[in-house]
Amino acid sequence: MSAIILWDMPAPKIFVTRIIPQPGLLLLKEHFQPEIWPHDLPPSREQLIERARGVEGLLCMLTEKIDGEVMDAIGPGLKVISNMAVGVDNIDIAAATARGIPVGNTPGVLTDATADQAFALMMAAARRITESERFLRAGKWVTWSPTLLLGVDLTGATLGIIGFGRIGQAVAKRAQGFDMRVLYYSPNRKPALGAQSVDLDTLLRESDFVSIHVPLNEGTRHFVNAEFLAKMKPTAILVNTARGGVLDQSALYHALKENKIFAAALDVTDPEPLPMDSTLLELENCIIVPHLGSATRKTRDKMSLLAAQNLMAGVSGARLPNCINPQVYK
Ligand code: DGY
Repeated sequence: MSAIILWDMPAPKIFVTRIIPQPGLLLLKEHFQPEIWPHDLPPSREQLIERARGVEGLLCMLTEKIDGEVMDAIGPGLKVISNMAVGVDNIDIAAATARGIPVGNTPGVLTDATADQAFALMMAAARRITESERFLRAGKWVTWSPTLLLGVDLTGATLGIIGFGRIGQAVAKRAQGFDMRVLYYSPNRKPALGAQSVDLDTLLRESDFVSIHVPLNEGTRHFVNAEFLAKMKPTAILVNTARGGVLDQSALYHALKENKIFAAALDVTDPEPLPMDSTLLELENCIIVPHLGSATRKTRDKMSLLAAQNLMAGVSGARLPNCINPQVYK
C-alpha cells in the first residue's frame, strides 16, 4: 500500500483507543488528525461510543469489546475496525461482516515474541524461578541443599503443542534447541519441524509440557477443563499464552492444589486483570504474568504500524493488508 494518501476532502475522522507506539502513531498523524484516548486505562464502552461516534476508522486494543451495538452507535460511516492484536475475540466478527466492515489484525509480527514468552514461562515453571525468588526474598535461603527447590528438565522432554499455527510452530522450533520431542494437536496436520501430529489423548498422556496456542472462540472456550487436566501427567507443566477463556481456571486451581499436575504458567487470564482475590494467586506452583506475550519494544512497534496500515487502507476503501473477514470484499 502506498504510504501517501491525499484526501480530496478533510481527512476522515478516526478514533484510536490508546496512545500506541511511535511508528503507528506517526503514520496516523501524517494522514489524519486522529482523536486519541490519552489515558492508561481503556475507555469504557460509553466513553468509546461518545468519542468514536461518526468516525470512519476505529483503531482499538484487545481491551475494548466491539459488538454490533457499538458499531451501530459509532454510525453507518464506520469503514474499518483495526485491532492492535492478532487475537480478535474482543470483536464480534459476524456483526462486522454483516455490516460490511472489514476487521484488521496484526498477525506474524508478534509470532517470535509470543513464542519466546511461552518458552520463558515453560522454563520458569520447570525451574521454579518465581517461587525460588520469593523464597530468597523472604530470607529463607540458609544454605545450599541437595534437595532444595528441585524442578524438572526441558532437555529431552516431550512438548505437546495445542494449536499448530504460526506461534505453535515457532514454539516447536525453539524446542528443537532443547532436543525435545514435539507432539502437536491441530485440525490442520502439517508435518513440520520434526513435530508429530497426534490425537489429544495421546498428547496429554505423553507430554511433559503442554503449551496452548489456539484462538478463543465458542469452540475453544474452557477447552482446558478438569477432564483435560486429569489426562495430563502428574509431573507435567501447562503453559497458556493464548487467551484466558480457553482455560477453566477453577479446574486448574484444583488440579494444581491437589498436585494432579506439577505446575502452570499463564500469560493470560479470564478476566483480565486477574482479581487479586483469585485463588490461583495462593499457589506456589502457578506463575501468572499480565498478558505480556507480545510485549517487546520491537514487536509493539511493528504491531502499531500494521494496525495503522490496516486502518488507513480501510478508510481509503482499499483492501486491508491483514483482514480477518475477507468475505466483506465479495
Ligand atoms: C494478541 O495480539 O492477540 C496478543 O494477545 C496481544 O499481545
